[in-house]
Amino acid sequence: MDDVVLEGEKVRLRDWRPGDLQPLRGLLDPARPWHETNGPYFGTPTAAAADSTARELTTAKAEPSDPRTSLAVCDLRDDRLIGRVSWYWESRQTDWRRMGLVIYDEQYWGGGYGTESLRLWTTYLFARTDTLRLDFATFSGNPGMIAVGRRLGFVEEGRFRRARRWSGGVHDSVVYGVLREEWDRMIHSSTEP
Ligand SMILES: CC(C)(COP(=O)(O)OP(=O)(O)OC[C@H]1O[C@@H](n2cnc3c(N)ncnc32)[C@H](O)[C@@H]1OP(=O)(O)O)[C@@H](O)C(=O)NCCC(=O)NCCS
Repeated sequence: MDDVVLEGEKVRLRDWRPGDLQPLRGLLDPARPWHETNGPYFGTPTAAAADSTARELTTAKAEPSDPRTSLAVCDLRDDRLIGRVSWYWESRQTDWRRMGLVIYDEQYWGGGYGTESLRLWTTYLFARTDTLRLDFATFSGNPGMIAVGRRLGFVEEGRFRRARRWSGGVHDSVVYGVLREEWDRMIHSSTEP
């Protein structure tokens, strides 16, 4: 199967490589600030868990899945590893996929890298499946992720009020989704002259 490479204007989403192990270890360090908004209520992974994730992602697969369940997000200019896109089954029985996005390197936050990554990933997943919808879950304490979704035309489909109470704070759990026909319309209208 051919390698997957998805390029935009700022990022390249590509298959993981063994050479990503060392930089990924640094990016997954439990002290990095991305843990503060990436499902912080689940707790920061231990160094051992982070190491095992880094190894798992960067070990070459004999038969990579189609569609891929995860791709590395790299700076298009120099292929530096900066983040990761992923998806998992919210409900395999009903063909319901949920996406994940993390720009691990905080120096890249606010530069449009997250928005472009999720745009490329959403287009790829709609192209490689016949799924009717895609979504992502976050919480009201993550305005960056919510802004990425809104900017791309995702709709707020669910808001579980005060569902995330931890560590002295209270937030809503939110889900943003997009239907295939909505995505097709948006992609076509953005490429029309
Ligand atoms: C959340 C995240 C994916 C956003 O990606 P990004 O590259 O920083 O976002 P972009 O530069 O594409 O910005 C998209 C929009 O969000 C806004 N934004 C970004 N970070 C923000 C923040 N912390 N607070 C408020 N708005 C923010 C930008 O201003 C932009 O809005 P605009 O379209 O009105 O200009 C990224 O910051 C990240 O990975 N953070 C740590 C991990 C995480 O929270 N992952 C998501 C878990 S659900």
